[in-house]
Amino acid sequence: MKVIVCKTYEEASLESAKIVAEVMKNKPNAILGLATGSTPEGMYSELARMNKEGEIDFKDITTVNLDEYYPISPDNDQSYRYFMNKNLFDRVNIDKSRTHVPDGSAPDGEKEAERYENYVRSLGGADIQVLGIGRNGHIAFNEPDEELVPVTHVTSLTADTIDANARFFKSADEVPTHALTMGMGTILSAKKIIIIATGANKHEAVKQMLKGTCTTKCPASFLNLHKDVVLVCDEAAYNG
Ligand code: PGA
Repeated sequence: MKVIVCKTYEEASLESAKIVAEVMKNKPNAILGLATGSTPEGMYSELARMNKEGEIDFKDITTVNLDEYYPISPDNDQSYRYFMNKNLFDRVNIDKSRTHVPDGSAPDGEKEAERYENYVRSLGGADIQVLGIGRNGHIAFNEPDEELVPVTHVTSLTADTIDANARFFKSADEVPTHALTMGMGTILSAKKIIIIATGANKHEAVKQMLKGTCTTKCPASFLNLHKDVVLVCDEAAYNG
């Protein structure tokens, strides 16, 4: 795993955007695998700026997001669809019909998971997948457990993740208890992966991942199986 340690969150956001921009420049119709969470917000702002300044073009780009709460309406301002529209899609020249997020309003979650998995597979996987990392080492909603699931699936959120996400809701009771998420194999099918980690609360998870071994107790450690992964972090996440 290649590691880029930045001084600040802003620098990490710019470095991450540069990596995604390079993929877009080399392949104007690239498939971008995207993530939500507070970490990539700065990167999305940089990508929107680069698009405005004419440096990158989203016209022929397709996107596939990692996950979505389930059940949730796409209009709910806490949905990941809403987040993506607000933080990126409404700010760049992307064709919205090419932006894909698991459908949190689908009547049958299992069927939606299967449809989404088949769709991502039909694209041949993302050209680059952006990831954040949970303080417990999760990637997307693949939480630490005895076993991990390879394909897109419905999963229940751990108490730790509900607690971490409660800051976005009025109370922890309002955080949805389930989610639709790409599985470990879906994520690892991307040609290139960039994982962004900032802040001291991510240090333990980053340290475990950088050990170079794989454990289901830290799903991010399975990124060690992939040949093209870049960790972009700040000093706090790297050093603790
Ligand atoms: P955060 O979430 O960016 O809001 O810290 C990251 C994650 O849980 O993957």
